[in-house]
Amino acid sequence: MTNLGNIIIAIDGPAASGKGTIAKKLSEYFGLPYLDSGLLYRIVASEVIKHNIDPTKKRLVIDHVKKINFDRIDNGSLRNDNVSHVASIIAQYKEVRDVLLRYQRSFALNGVVMDGRDIGTVIFPNADYKFYITATLEERTNRRFMELLEQNSELNRNIVKNDINNRDQRDIMRKIAPLAKADDAIEVDTTFMKIDDVIDFIVKYIHKDKKS
Ligand code: CDP
Repeated sequence: MTNLGNIIIAIDGPAASGKGTIAKKLSEYFGLPYLDSGLLYRIVASEVIKHNIDPTKKRLVIDHVKKINFDRIDNGSLRNDNVSHVASIIAQYKEVRDVLLRYQRSFALNGVVMDGRDIGTVIFPNADYKFYITATLEERTNRRFMELLEQNSELNRNIVKNDINNRDQRDIMRKIAPLAKADDAIEVDTTFMKIDDVIDFIVKYIHKDKKS
């Protein structure tokens, strides 16, 4: 573990690019708290589903989001297709994003590694380091397919691919805080890289920057 103080590292990228795994490993390496911002959107989505709220009814979603306790993060049931789909619908609402923005900023008081879609652009435009993690749609589909196959052995790869692609399009096209590479972010194409190689690259980049 290397301690660089209370720094903020922003990790953004499209669905299933590996940014969560990378962010978690970096947080361990640098001894920083870790927050997967996607989980916050997934919590909102799962609450919306649980209460039978139509996610396209913006007013109903906004009224409900104010009642949610985000400290109760239960990873278990949040990683499924339906939750992902609903998360990307409710993520379009400014009022939802505002509630989560406040949570994300207050979480980072002792530094943080945070991954998501708008961390380097909107949540922490002054982050110490920003990385934009990508991989081809085919490779990202393979990664998510292998991950979800453990839960559902009858999973269809084409459905996974379509889900990822549709969600990316919705995330890129939305008006508020769309998925985008910050101008000062370092882009890392991980299509042909192993996770450890990505960590190695980022750690070396940060150490080199610290020395200069
Ligand atoms: O793990 P994966 O990349 O598939 O998704 P996630 O990071 O858990 O995010 C789920 C959905 O939440 C995304 O498709 C976005 O619509 C939304 N999201 C967002 O809008 N902004 C963030 N900072 C994080 C997630």
